[in-house]
Amino acid sequence: MIKTVPTVPFDDQKPGTSGLRKKVRVFQQPHYAENFIQSVFDSLEGYAGKTLVLGGDGRFLNRDVIQIALKMAAANGFGRVLVGQGGILSTPAASHLIRSSGAFGGLLLSASHNPGGPDEDFGIKYNVSNGGPAPEKVTDAIHARTLAIASYKILDAEDVDIDTPGTSQLGDMTIEIVDPVAGYADLMESLFDFGAIRALIADGFTLSFDAMSAVTGPYAVEIFENRLGASKDTVRNAIPLPDFGRHHPDPNLVHAKELYDRMMAPDAPDFGAASDGDGDRNLIIGRHCYVTPSDSLAVLAANAHLTPGYALGLKGIARSMPTSGAADRVAEKLGIPLYETPTGWKFFGNLLDAGMTTICGEESAGTGSDHVREKDGIWAVLLWLNILAARRQGVAQIMAEHWTTYGRNYYARHDYEAIAKDKADALMEALRAKLSTLPGASNSGGTVKSADDFAYADPTDQSISRNQGVRILFEDGSRVVFRLSGTGTEGATLRVYIERYVASDGDLGMAAADALAPLVRAAQEVADISGFTGMEKPGVIT
Ligand code: G1P
Ligand code: ZN
Repeated sequence: MIKTVPTVPFDDQKPGTSGLRKKVRVFQQPHYAENFIQSVFDSLEGYAGKTLVLGGDGRFLNRDVIQIALKMAAANGFGRVLVGQGGILSTPAASHLIRSSGAFGGLLLSASHNPGGPDEDFGIKYNVSNGGPAPEKVTDAIHARTLAIASYKILDAEDVDIDTPGTSQLGDMTIEIVDPVAGYADLMESLFDFGAIRALIADGFTLSFDAMSAVTGPYAVEIFENRLGASKDTVRNAIPLPDFGRHHPDPNLVHAKELYDRMMAPDAPDFGAASDGDGDRNLIIGRHCYVTPSDSLAVLAANAHLTPGYALGLKGIARSMPTSGAADRVAEKLGIPLYETPTGWKFFGNLLDAGMTTICGEESAGTGSDHVREKDGIWAVLLWLNILAARRQGVAQIMAEHWTTYGRNYYARHDYEAIAKDKADALMEALRAKLSTLPGASNSGGTVKSADDFAYADPTDQSISRNQGVRILFEDGSRVVFRLSGTGTEGATLRVYIERYVASDGDLGMAAADALAPLVRAAQEVADISGFTGMEKPGVIT
C-alpha cells in the first residue's frame, strides 16, 4: 500500500559540492532522508517504469536509507531498482552500472572521505543517466523542492533482503540485487593490459593497497589479488565497516599515514596506493616517493597511450582550477586542449559527454576518464600499474624523468578546518575586496601579476559559475588560491592552494615545504589567515 506522509520542509537541504552531506544525527531526524529523496524524485521527469541504481559505501545508516529509498522508489513509480549486494556500490562502480544498465539515474549513499558512524557523516547524491553527478540546474531544482515539500510517498512494506543476489518484487517494482564488483572489474580488464601487470607482479614487483576499511576492499581484492595475482596480503583494511574502523577514510598523508610509513621504510613495496570511503579518490606512493595528485594527473596523461584503453591518445585533459599546472605542460606537448574547471567532478561531465576531454583530475586525489562519469580510485591505480608494467621503471624514476622533461610544479594544499562560518566568510570577503589593489604589489611571494575570483564559462552549454576561488598569480608563474570547502559538515574549511613552478633546468630536488615557504608567508600576508581564524597553522597539509 502506498502511503502519502505529510511533512514540512527542512531549510538545510542544499546539495553541496557532492550532494547532501550532513551528520548522521541530522539524517536521523524523522522525515529528513525521506524529504530529500522525495525532492529528488519530484525534480525529475519521465522516470515512470525506468531503472534506478542504488548503493553506497557501507557507512553507518547505509542499509537503513537503502530500505527507505527502495520503498519510496516503488511508491513513486520506478520500474526497477538495481541494488549492490549488501547495499555496497563504490561511486565509480555505481556510475558504470548506471551507464551499462541504461538506468534513468542513481542514488549514491556516501559522504565520501568524511568519517562514518553514529556521530559522523552521511550523504545522499543523485546521479543522472550519463552516470555523473546531477548538474547544477538539477541540484538547484532539488534544493528549491526541499524548501516547498509538503508530503512524500512511501510503500508500506517489509524490509527487502538486500544480501541475497537475485530478483524480487516490491509492489509493482522489480528489485535486482547485483554483484557490486564483477561488472566494474570487467570494465577495468577491458581498459588495461592485465597480462602485462600480471607478468610484472610475477617478476617480483610488490604492491600494497589500503582500502581504509571502506568500499574499495572487495574491488581491490578481486582485481589486485584474484585477477592480477598479487599476494594475499596486498589489500589492507579490506572489509568495509560502518565506521571505517573509526578511521578517517581520506587517502592523504595524514589519514593514510600507515601506508605512507610502509612506503618510506627500508623494505618498502614497489608501489603503494589507497582509496577513500566511496572509492573515487586515489593516493599514489612509490617506493620512497610520494606523488602529488596534480603530478599524478600529469604523469598519467603523458603515459596513458602505453595502455590499451588509451592507445589512440587523449582528446584533451581537464583539471580543476586549484589543481597544479603540471598537466597543462603535458597537454601543450601533446598538442591537445587543457580545460580548467571549478572544483567538483560535476563540471567534467559535460566535457566528457561532449568528447572534448579524455582524462580529468583534481588536486584532491581525484583522477578519472571517460570510462565513467565520476573520478575513480582503482582505475587510477591500474593506469599507474599498467604504465609501470609497460615502462618497467620504478615510480621515482618515472617522476624524475617527468620533471626533467616538463619542469616541476611544487605544490601543497593547506586546510584550516572547523572555522566559524562568519569568520571564514569575512576572510574571503576581505580578500575579494582587495583584489583590484593587488596587481603590481609585492610581498613574500614576489610581485603579483594578477588577482581574480575564478569564474567558469562551460564551453558545452555556456553556463557561468562564479566565485569559484580567489587566485593570486605571481610574475614568476607561482600562485596562491583561496576557497572555502563545499563538502564540510562542521563550520567552514578554508583551503589554501600553493604552487610554484621550477623549469626543467632549475632545482627539481627540493623538499616541497622549502620550495613553497615564501608563498606560504605571502598567503598569510595577503589574507591574514591567523587574524581571521585564530589559527597559526593549517590542521592538514596535503
Ligand atoms: C572536495 C575537493 C574537491 C572534490 C570534492 C568531492 O571539495 O576539494 O576537489 O571534488 O571534495 O570529493 P571541497 O570540500 O573542497 O568543496
Ligand atoms: Zn569520495
